[in-house]
Amino acid sequence: MTARIVSGTEVAKEIREELKAEITELKEKHNIVPGLVTILVGEDPASQSYVSAKNKTAHAIGINSEQVTLDADTPEEELLSLVEKYNEDDSINGILVQLPLPKHIDEGKILNTINPDKDVDGFHPVNIGRMVLGENCFLPCTPHGVLELLARSGVETSGAEVVILGRSNIVGKPMANLMLQKRESGNATVTLCHTRTKDMAEHCRRADIIIAAAGVAKLVTADMVKDGVAIMDVGVNRIGVTESGKAKLAGDVDFESVKEKASVITPVPGGVGPMTITMLMKNTVQSAKMKANLI
Ligand code: GUN
Repeated sequence: MTARIVSGTEVAKEIREELKAEITELKEKHNIVPGLVTILVGEDPASQSYVSAKNKTAHAIGINSEQVTLDADTPEEELLSLVEKYNEDDSINGILVQLPLPKHIDEGKILNTINPDKDVDGFHPVNIGRMVLGENCFLPCTPHGVLELLARSGVETSGAEVVILGRSNIVGKPMANLMLQKRESGNATVTLCHTRTKDMAEHCRRADIIIAAAGVAKLVTADMVKDGVAIMDVGVNRIGVTESGKAKLAGDVDFESVKEKASVITPVPGGVGPMTITMLMKNTVQSAKMKANLI
């Protein structure tokens, strides 16, 4: 079997068009323009490029977006005050502090300070708690993007054996939780593999769906998957530079060999990545509508 390659770029574009129409309607009917602030501390090139893409996308669909860039040695207190300022700012519906933060800043303390009603990343413990309980909340953007990709590419999750690789707070743990929720695009039997898992390959061979978020380039190879598996590759691993000097990227899945056995597969780049940013936009619009009691 040769896989259907699911373009996250295309699906994300489709969702952005839907959001653009929603934002136009919000403006025309309710005089509301959703507002987002992104806060970047330091000069990590990957973080700079993510934050800049988030702002660019926001502007393109009609979200008011501002970017704050702080020096790497900014004191924790200063960042806390900035978050508090935006918590109080009525024009802002979403606050995003790009991770990772410099070592001298307590990440948990910063995330806990963001007003949960503006936590469009879905990282605040209140939103994580709501997600686990299946309540209305902001879903973390990457797992949310994977759910949308699965749904829009017609992959049935109900009753499926889903194997997730990686137990990060941002992807693996929430992903596992969402897949087992009793609702559409959930109802799966979930296995979460991590660095202490004894035989990851054996778990993968049982899987109907593999969601790879381990951060190891080409970890999943063709001998580790069964025919017809659906693959969502969350990995973004920098494995060198291209001739034009750009970072050369590889997913957690050996795309070339695995695509010959899978039914569905996402490429890297152009798979899950574009979905993450788009889900951030969706959460920001959701936040603006919630504030206006429209949902
Ligand atoms: N760093 C890597 N991914 C993310 C994300 O989704 N949100 C934030 N805030 N930081 C990140």
